[in-house]
Amino acid sequence: MVYQHKEIVFKIFVIGLRIWEGHLSDIVIGLDLGTGGVRVLAVDLQGGIIAQATRSYPLLTPQPGWTEQNSEDWVEASLQALFDVTQQLDKHRAIALGLSGQMHGMVPLDAEGKAIRAAILWNDQRTGKAVAEIEATIPRQELIQRTGNPAITGFQLPKLLWLRTEEPQAYARLWQILLPKDYLGYVLTGESVTEPSDASGVGCLNLAHQQWDTEILHALNLNPALFPPIILSSAIAGRLKSEIATRVGLPVGLPVVAGGGDNAAAAIALGISRTNLNQGSLSIGTSGVIFVPCDRPIPDSEGRVHLFCHVDGGYHLLGVTLAAGGSLRWYRDTFAPQTSYTDLMEMAERSQPGARGVLFLPHLSGERSPHLDPDTRGALVNLSLAHTPADITRAILEGVAFSLRETLEVIGAIAPVHQLLATGGGARSHFWLQILASVLQTELMTATEVGAAYGAAILAMVGVGAYPNLEAALKIFAPDGNVIQPQANAVYETGFKRYKLLYDTLKAVR
Ligand code: XUL
Repeated sequence: MVYQHKEIVFKIFVIGLRIWEGHLSDIVIGLDLGTGGVRVLAVDLQGGIIAQATRSYPLLTPQPGWTEQNSEDWVEASLQALFDVTQQLDKHRAIALGLSGQMHGMVPLDAEGKAIRAAILWNDQRTGKAVAEIEATIPRQELIQRTGNPAITGFQLPKLLWLRTEEPQAYARLWQILLPKDYLGYVLTGESVTEPSDASGVGCLNLAHQQWDTEILHALNLNPALFPPIILSSAIAGRLKSEIATRVGLPVGLPVVAGGGDNAAAAIALGISRTNLNQGSLSIGTSGVIFVPCDRPIPDSEGRVHLFCHVDGGYHLLGVTLAAGGSLRWYRDTFAPQTSYTDLMEMAERSQPGARGVLFLPHLSGERSPHLDPDTRGALVNLSLAHTPADITRAILEGVAFSLRETLEVIGAIAPVHQLLATGGGARSHFWLQILASVLQTELMTATEVGAAYGAAILAMVGVGAYPNLEAALKIFAPDGNVIQPQANAVYETGFKRYKLLYDTLKAVR
């Protein structure tokens, strides 16, 4: 009798548990390992953000031009942010974790999988000699045709050559080098892999085959085994180790999806992929970034813009104006520290298109696209006693737009786009957006920036089959915003010609 009673109670408990489990809604976790810190999101399968957390870590600058981070700091901050997110979850079940992160960095590991030295980052400039060594071994044109890009100081491959020359004892202990988010994936799962979007920023990925270019590696006398295997961006890289799962409050064995480099993942978060080749993105943060998807790996023959793999199996072009919002910030902090950005914009509106002749080159941190010229510098020219802060502010907004137009012209010759989704702090100003649309002669649409962690979450959904493929997932998340049409303005056309002439002239007298 007592036994029967116990059995009934147990059955009721099991039924209750099933009902309760049925109410657990599935979520995925997206993680973006940025340069300033890590961002973790919990996203439900309809795209709603359920919880989020960020944790920061220091940037190390041991010498001028060097940038490093301790990979243990990434791991610690990521585990804390994952824990912070799981603490906010109630009646949710995590079904996958997707990764994204800063590109191009190098984490050198020994045979035990331990970091041999601090990670060298994407914006590190120490590898000038290694870049020359690569281009002396593989002609620049051939490198561009095979990998989509010339040798670039920030990429991972020159960092490896730098290690071989400058820290030979460390190099002798090398088992593998990993990119930042892939290193985190390795710590979480024990599997070392990468995926095409991040791998294409290393400098030795054969774009057509989306595999390491062993001919390039052999020419540089490098062992291909130093690089991890490449899997699809939406493939499961490994499963969460039990000690980590217990610490952060996620299920043991949770699938960890490979994910994507931060630019590709952020684009996916905006729905930008090869399913709609008419739409790219324009982000105006500190830097200005143009991202345009394409379905074939056609590089600019001079390597003036980057060509990388996208996370959708296709490719994308990427151009960067290093100081976009950064130019405006510099101007405000230096000359008008008490002024808000809103007031600056209102002031600029009081000038005229063409800024009454004032012209600005935004090369305050050198320039990436389309000049790849770290030594070029900014300029503000044609000033007279009649000019006011309104003209100068407007000239800065227009100068940034001219720089982006130079890049968009190179990209557009390969993959023309009809519309750019505009994000970032600068896109909050309708006035600047109108200048940008008119200078770029391209329609803009405002979009809320959800970021790379969100893109990583979408890839995780696809990785575990919550959506049959990326295309199906992106239909759910299509952004919708205000459209800004370009206006024809001959003043901008003249301004753009003067802008290009000014760069060439200053280069000649440098
Ligand atoms: C892309 C690039 C940066 C990094 C840092 O080429 O250098 O966007 O990914 O986030």
